[in-house]
Amino acid sequence: MKNVRDYIRTIPDFPHEGIMFRDVTTLFSDPRGFRMAIDQMLHPYAGTRIDKVVGLEARGFIMGGAIAHQLSVGFVPIRKKGKLPGKTLQQDYKLEYGEATMEIHDDAIQAGEKVLVVDDLLATGGTAEAGIKLLERLGAEIISTSFIIDLPALGGRKRLEAMGMDVQILCEFDGL
Ligand code: PRP
Ligand code: MG
Repeated sequence: MKNVRDYIRTIPDFPHEGIMFRDVTTLFSDPRGFRMAIDQMLHPYAGTRIDKVVGLEARGFIMGGAIAHQLSVGFVPIRKKGKLPGKTLQQDYKLEYGEATMEIHDDAIQAGEKVLVVDDLLATGGTAEAGIKLLERLGAEIISTSFIIDLPALGGRKRLEAMGMDVQILCEFDGL
């Protein structure tokens, strides 16, 4: 039987030479693969109270919406700068080249709400760290963070765990 990792396609030299791009579109487009990924992401939280699911733009929205629907809770997007229409909190983070900014609506989470953060991939952890900082500024209680893929060579998991986060992943890939 195929597992989640088997559905992920690798495209060499995208977006730069030397990068092995782990492409989750082939996982999402397969009905068995997509259901398997969502079911496995949900599994650790059976019986755990979660008030909201938070997805990181853009690919985190795909699993985040499905997970929130399954838990019958609300979904909150953390978006790249300039996309959210209401009043926002902003958090800068580092990319491979330069900086970017993530935003959340300042009324999207009430202090003390229990949230689950989801994204497709954990690389350096910079994106997730920015999301976590935004949620902490709003007073959210972050129950856990969940990713389909971890790239251990880039250290994101250790970085999030050093912040005290619970980190759940479905599979790992070696190298960049
Ligand atoms: C990718 C991926 C994660 C992030 C991981 O998103 O979907 O969100 O990078 O990298 P990091 O752990 O080093 O921060 P990307 O910024 O390419 O944008 P997208 O999801 O909008 O395509
Ligand atoms: Mg992303």
